[in-house]
Amino acid sequence: MDFTQIILDWYDAFGRDLPWRHTHDPYAVWLSEIILQQTRIAQGTAYWERFMARFPDVQSLSAASEDEVLRLWEGLGYYSRARNLHAAAKQIAALGAFPRTFEGIRALKGIGDYTAAAIGSIAFGLPAAVVDGNVYRVLGRHFGIDTPIGTTAAAKQFGALAQSLLPQDRPGDFNQGMMDFGAMQCTPKNPVCLTCPLAGNCVALNTGRVSLLPVKKSGPAVTDRYFTYIYLRCQGETAIRRRGSGDIWQGLWEPVLLEHGAGAAPPWPAWTACGTLTELRRGVRHALTHRILHAGFYLFTSDERPALPGDFRWIPEGELDRYAKPRLFETLLEAIF
Ligand code: ADE
Repeated sequence: MDFTQIILDWYDAFGRDLPWRHTHDPYAVWLSEIILQQTRIAQGTAYWERFMARFPDVQSLSAASEDEVLRLWEGLGYYSRARNLHAAAKQIAALGAFPRTFEGIRALKGIGDYTAAAIGSIAFGLPAAVVDGNVYRVLGRHFGIDTPIGTTAAAKQFGALAQSLLPQDRPGDFNQGMMDFGAMQCTPKNPVCLTCPLAGNCVALNTGRVSLLPVKKSGPAVTDRYFTYIYLRCQGETAIRRRGSGDIWQGLWEPVLLEHGAGAAPPWPAWTACGTLTELRRGVRHALTHRILHAGFYLFTSDERPALPGDFRWIPEGELDRYAKPRLFETLLEAIF
């Protein structure tokens, strides 16, 4: 049996029984798809029922005040969806009927390619394949596609593949079958391959790559940096300076910082030999968005102030809390105080 028939059979046997699946009323289907854009099924179902009870058709929704629509939407979040829903109801009412073509549906407020394909296929049997995270996962694994998702290339490739698999006689069932299959069988973590009807031909399963597919587009590279901080203590005072622009932590205050390569010794200034240098911590990891900092902390004590670059400021240690500091400096202070 081919992929498409297996998904349809699986959907017939295990597809979720959701209230909007008992109707082809485009209004009811549209309402469900807008609610489900950013809401889980369990929460969305109750809202769909409330909306259908209060606004059973597009005329009643279009005649409502925006306030009332927003109040009924309360708790669902992403309120632009509710405002778009209301605006689209007015568009449809003005048209006199729900649009029946992909382009007509796509032209409604709040509807993109995915939602237009979902509504068109479910309500009107239009041959438009949906491509969402579930579809990327199921197809990526089954066909062993490692094009990183989130790229234009992937959108084209997966879109064309989904479209080629779409059965002309049951596009809505196939689309919803893919959604349910991705949500229930071919899940992101711990997919149920043991009972999967597609296991025999699944490239990911048969090459040990289930946990590796689909491939996500990698973010910017993470770089490692190595910092050694020296906290000075001279007669109750310490020295800090403000970080400049062009690097992390612009405008924040920190003690003497020696930056160096991985595994390299810090470039110790000569004055560190003229007092007591004590290691407080080593190997402190601190993750930033695109960097991992590896830090070591030292305490330097002496009676005499060493000569520091002119931008350092000597302050009583008790006044440190007046200065904005990176979290890593706070961690150093926790090692001292
Ligand atoms: N998520 C969005 N639309 C859906 C639908 N029609 N069925 C199941 N999950 C969905």
